[in-house]
Amino acid sequence: MMKIRVINGPNLNLLGTREPQIYGNTTLGSIESMLGHEAREYGVEIEFFQSNHEGDLIDCIHEAARECCDGLILNPGAYTHYSYAIRDAVAAAGIPTVEVHLSNIHSREDFRKESVIAPVCLGQISGLGAVSYSAALYALVRKLRGAGQSERPMG
Ligand code: DQA
Repeated sequence: MMKIRVINGPNLNLLGTREPQIYGNTTLGSIESMLGHEAREYGVEIEFFQSNHEGDLIDCIHEAARECCDGLILNPGAYTHYSYAIRDAVAAAGIPTVEVHLSNIHSREDFRKESVIAPVCLGQISGLGAVSYSAALYALVRKLRGAGQSERPMG
């Protein structure tokens, strides 16, 4: 069965109470349970990890590669904007990765507009709140299943 790992970086454990005007009221637990349901519908296995520590995120990406995960959904939090180490881990892992953001990083402070990680990802989804994660899961499953075949919508 296809296996997808969802990795959330620093401060995302505070979703629900953290700056709700920017990040919404949905907790990380609710996002994970929503993705769990969606993954079941798609018939894929899904795993979740969150850490506030850069090295732990890197270890988790390495482990995903060792355990032959098929795809990653990654919200690196503020590391998005400056962690060359996480970028290198994603590149080294070689697993198709979709970068996600709850907020629209392109409409916020200038320092958020650049992602140093997006260039080594399949794509980036930003600004849709919790739906960013659902869109990433849909896109990743479809891309992975479509590899080498015509890409038909899932129904
Ligand atoms: C974020 C955007 C980042 O700029 C910020 O540092 C976060 C959350 C998002 O999901 O919108 O922690 O990744």
